[in-house]
Parts: sequence; structure tokens; C-alpha cells
Amino acid sequence: MDIRLMRPSDIPQVQQTNITNLPENYFVKYYMYHALSWPQLSYVAVDVGRAVLVVLFSFNKTLQVSRPKKTPYDAPKVVGYVLAKMEEDPADGVQHGHITSLSVMRTHRRLGLAEKLMRQSQRAMFETYNAVYVSLHVRVSNIAALALYRDTLGFKVGGIEAKYYADGEDAYSMRMDLDYLR
Ligand code: ACO
Repeated sequence: MDIRLMRPSDIPQVQQTNITNLPENYFVKYYMYHALSWPQLSYVAVDVGRAVLVVLFSFNKTLQVSRPKKTPYDAPKVVGYVLAKMEEDPADGVQHGHITSLSVMRTHRRLGLAEKLMRQSQRAMFETYNAVYVSLHVRVSNIAALALYRDTLGFKVGGIEAKYYADGEDAYSMRMDLDYLR
């Protein structure tokens, strides 16, 4: 499993992962806006195990080796992502990052991927943009994400935003100081 920066070419797979895992979905241009404006902040988890090297050597009469043929099983697959940005016009005047969206495919959960994606993004916010803290919203019913943010990563609940989501559910507004990276 690889954790690496998200590239514009990953966006179709990232969008598919998002649609599979979350009701908050975005147009391609919103992913592009993240990738082009803050290329250091969004990461993907890629299952390279699928890239089974199917090297089909074929020998012709002169025993020359032909080029390996690609098969449909070659393509590494995006199994998780974190989509992140810097807050462009922070209300509090403090430079900070924001996690727009995070998800990991069911088949690849509880392997520590979300934690790694988050830590990579947080470090990049701090190192590249001098972010003082990172913020996010999460559904009050989202036990798994809450455990990840609060217990594993150390985010604190700043407040509740009533009816934040389109279906009327409330959100916890959470944040975490990035001082520990100093
Ligand atoms: N129940 C309780 N705690 C959990 C759970 C769970 N289902 N999943 C993760 N955690 C906590 C645990 O403390 C875990 O550590 P442990 O496995 O050593 O006990 C820790 O988080 C780290 O877990 P990871 O393996 O890194 O998490 P994972 O890769 O499975 O992804 C995620 C967690 C992203 C919440 C995943 O369940 C998911 O994609 N859910 C659906 C989408 C979603 O809810 N995304 C977050 C929305 S909020 C936003 O996007 C800003």
C-alpha cells in the first residue's frame, strides 16, 4: 500500500471512492481546485498489490523478448484519500488548513490508512503553509471518524453546527493545533 500525493489524474478514482463512502459529493472541478491550488495537501492511498506484474514474455524465433503486455489487472487502485486545503480567508485571521473530505474503502479499513493520510496532510499544511491549526466538520453520528479524529489524532470539539449537512444532521466542528510538529 502506498500513500502519495494526489495527482490530477487520480481524480476520477478519488471521486469514485468519495461517492462510494460518503453522501457529501463534489464536482470534478472542486477536486481540481484542491489539486491545483494546494498540490501539497491532498493524498491518496493506493493499493499496489493489485498491480500484479503480469509479464508475458513471448519469444519469437530469434529468441528476442517482446515488450511486457499490460493487462487490466496492472492498474493500481485508489482505496482512500484525504482532500485538503488552506482556508483562503480565515474569519479568525489565523492561517489554518481544512480537511474537506476523507474516506477509505470498506475493504481497506482498520489498516491505519486514514491516520496516515491525515498525518501526511497535517505535516504538509504546517511545513508548506505555516498552518497554525487544522479544522474539519464531522457528523455527530459518525462514531468511526470521531474516534479517529479525537482519540487517535488529538482533535478537539470546538462546537456543534446545527443542521450543517443537507439532510439536517448536526456537525461537530473540530480542530487540532499543529504546534506538536514544531
Ligand atoms: N470504530 C471505532 N474506531 C475506529 C473505527 C471504527 N469503525 N475506524 C477507525 N477508528 C479509529 C480507531 O481508533 C483506529 O485505530 P485502531 O484501528 O488501532 O483501533 C483509528 O481510528 C485509525 O483507524 P484507521 O485504520 O486509520 O481508519 P480507516 O482507514 O479505517 O478509516 C474512516 C477511517 C476514514 C473514518 C473510514 O471508516 C471511512 O472511510 N468511513 C466512511 C467515510 C467517513 O466517514 N469519512 C469521514 C467523514 S468526515 C470528513 O470527511 C472531514
